[in-house]
Amino acid sequence: MTPLMTRVSSRRTLLTLAVTIGLAWAGGVWTAAQTSAKPQLTVYKSATCGCCSKWIEHMQANGFDVKAVDVDDTDKVAKEHGVPADALSCHVGLVNGYVVEGHVPADAVLKMLKEKPAIVGLAVPGMPMSAPGMAVPGGPQEPYTIVSFDKTGKTAVYQKR
Ligand code: CU
Ligand code: CU
Repeated sequence: MTPLMTRVSSRRTLLTLAVTIGLAWAGGVWTAAQTSAKPQLTVYKSATCGCCSKWIEHMQANGFDVKAVDVDDTDKVAKEHGVPADALSCHVGLVNGYVVEGHVPADAVLKMLKEKPAIVGLAVPGMPMSAPGMAVPGGPQEPYTIVSFDKTGKTAVYQKR
């Protein structure tokens, strides 16, 4: 090996090493950002609402970072965010630009956040006895519908439970 070739090959080794370390570092940062990205959910509810707190616990148990805000009139907040009158329930949540009205199951919200449909949000109108935050072990079963609603206030069936 001539002195020149030795120098070239060691430079290449250094470069390879630098690229490898750079990629590993970027990978580490990316992984950290992925795992810490909990969806931020703000929930407007009345101070005395017990089932609202139960629903918040359900969302937290499913990976949501929840901030609860007590308000006097949840329907007013909901309407301001485009929830149609026939979809109203007891609390309204905001997450990643979407609106979540009432006892919507966490997995349905996660599906919406992943698929990003062109809707304003999801709702479980009223307070069905089997919905998360309402259900009690051994309690009555009440099949219910998760609806989506759009900018025009039109609702559509999203899922049946
Ligand atoms: Cu409720
Ligand atoms: Cu509620």
